[in-house]
Amino acid sequence: MSREILSVSRLSVGYGERPAAADVSFSLQQGEILCLVGESGCGKSTLLKALLAAPEIRLFSGSITLEGRVISELPVRERRRLCCDRMGIVFQNPEAAFNPIRSYRKQFVEALKSHGKYGPKSFDGQVEQAFAKVELNDWKRVISECPFALSGGMNQRVALALAMLLGQEILLCDEPTSALDATIQLQVAHELKHLRDKNGVTQIIVTHNLALAGFLADRIGVMYAGRLVELGRASDVLRYPCHPYTKSLITAVPGLDGEMPYGLPGSPPMTGPSETGCEFRDRCPLAQEGCACRTYAMRQVGEDHCASCCDEKEGAV
Ligand SMILES: Nc1ncnc2c1ncn2[C@@H]1O[C@H](COP(=O)(O)OP(=O)(O)O)[C@@H](O)[C@H]1O
Ligand SMILES: [Mg+2]
Repeated sequence: MSREILSVSRLSVGYGERPAAADVSFSLQQGEILCLVGESGCGKSTLLKALLAAPEIRLFSGSITLEGRVISELPVRERRRLCCDRMGIVFQNPEAAFNPIRSYRKQFVEALKSHGKYGPKSFDGQVEQAFAKVELNDWKRVISECPFALSGGMNQRVALALAMLLGQEILLCDEPTSALDATIQLQVAHELKHLRDKNGVTQIIVTHNLALAGFLADRIGVMYAGRLVELGRASDVLRYPCHPYTKSLITAVPGLDGEMPYGLPGSPPMTGPSETGCEFRDRCPLAQEGCACRTYAMRQVGEDHCASCCDEKEGAV
């Protein structure tokens, strides 16, 4: 029997006076992998940081429910304690999440102690195993280094290894493979899937890589200008995309046949979600006059598949 472990409902979050992500709703069953895709600046990282109660994030409205408990109403410190207990995160730039001039060994010991998972006798063996899973075979050297001395890709793998050691029930990964070359990307992708299959770890993975999303995700959520514009089973979203933005993202992926992909001109508005009108209208090949004043709520377009706008001439791409 699956159970809902995390959900957000009509969540609006951001910095200062403006939401950077607005009206976002989704729920995750235990052991499910949700991939969030969309161009830079669409609010994906903000959403992950909000789930972890990061200090710079403000909750404007909506709710977050963790294991049946509405946590968005709790005082922020209590919320952060609960979230950090249950959720691990691998940041987009892991160097920034660690102290750059403190050895990984010291930082690993501290992190494991704070989660009650440190055992001095088992530590080395556990580190060796976790590092091997992310292809860091020179573990003795790496664990004694400071983050500043390693490359971005190595730091990213160390961060993933620590997340595996901490063994939280929910793992949030912000572009976990973006700094890695293709073969290591594949290894990391397999390890993430293994974490779910073997340990039931629920995951939200932000990625630009639609192929990775197709491999890993049970469901894919597509974000644009701070809004979730499409959400559905991975195979449905990739084969039968509905929102014109999702279609554009898919046709922008280069194939191996040497044909030029169809890229989407322009970039998302930096102003984030707007009060009315579709944020995508300036770039949308199907835009009509009414798109400037309509409001776009997510609606059902298939079984377990929602979109806020639908290209009616829908079909496999
Ligand atoms: N620390 C911050 N302070 C203020 N605005 C921010 C901060 N971080 C991100 N933003 C803004 O929030 C919006 C969403 O950014 P982000 O969540 O990082 O997008 P994504 O992860 O999809 O690339 C962007 O307009 C970005 O400029
Ligand atoms: Mg980001």
